[in-house]
Amino acid sequence: MRAVFITGGTTGIGMELAKNYLSQGWKVGVCGRDRQKFEENFTAHRDNISFYNVDVSERNDLKAAIADFSNSIGLDLLIANAGIGYKFKTKIPDFEYSYKMVHINLLGVMYAFEAALDVMIPSGKGQLVAISSIAGYNGLPGVSAYSATKAAVQKYAESLHLDLKQFNIAVTTICPGFVETPLTDTNRHSMPFIMKAPRAAELIVRAIKKKKMIYAFPFIFAAIVRLISMLPRTWYRFIMTRKTFNYSSKE
Ligand SMILES: NC(=O)c1ccc[n+]([C@@H]2O[C@H](COP(=O)([O-])OP(=O)(O)OC[C@H]3O[C@@H](n4cnc5c(N)ncnc54)[C@H](OP(=O)(O)O)[C@@H]3O)[C@@H](O)[C@H]2O)c1
Repeated sequence: MRAVFITGGTTGIGMELAKNYLSQGWKVGVCGRDRQKFEENFTAHRDNISFYNVDVSERNDLKAAIADFSNSIGLDLLIANAGIGYKFKTKIPDFEYSYKMVHINLLGVMYAFEAALDVMIPSGKGQLVAISSIAGYNGLPGVSAYSATKAAVQKYAESLHLDLKQFNIAVTTICPGFVETPLTDTNRHSMPFIMKAPRAAELIVRAIKKKKMIYAFPFIFAAIVRLISMLPRTWYRFIMTRKTFNYSSKE
């Protein structure tokens, strides 16, 4: 039986990924800070799932959780999904919250990968997945540290994809557009092409199975965003300082 550990599996995309893998007969480990959310959201799925009450910004705790799961169950796949977004877009960043975001969204991915590699390198196989975002392709207004952490995660995983091939370890980066989860619940701006979380999980699982290097979706939104990222930056700045696109100018 195959085994996957998913960070941040108590709600949203991580929860739907966990349910998707459970339905395919995988053994699943998830972590999160809120045990109650796990209890509420997995009432019907207790058999093949283990919950670890761990904050991904605590390196040693995460390492111990992933080691415990892999020793008792195994580890074929690690999905570093845990992340936080800004509840509100602001012109001046909330710096305390931004630092916390760097710890969770960037260091949390590195800690998870480090712990998984302790197992995967000696066994000569495995797959690492980082959940980045379409927000990582451009510096977006009002979400500075979110864009920065997601861009960093993309490049970090791209480097590891090159380095870890020789150990037979695949590295995949997933860049979702807008997905209906608690993270997007508080957004007051328009969210083009927003998708339900179970559908997003299906697409992510498919891309992971194909061992894609990078997968951005939904297709049209991802194509537009990638195209924008190729524009001369002066054009980009001109567009993004228009009131229609500049979320932070409204708050
Ligand atoms: N929703 C979107 O539109 C969207 C788009 C692109 C990318 N993403 C990315 O997808 C990932 C999942 O987001 P989501 O939309 O599913 O959000 P979500 O529903 O808020 O889920 C976030 C998950 O991460 C966990 N988490 C947060 N901080 C954590 C920490 N310090 N330690 C351990 N677990 C932590 C949460 O669990 P606890 O609260 O129990 O700790 C929860 O299980 C994030 O990386 C996000 O940036 C989301």
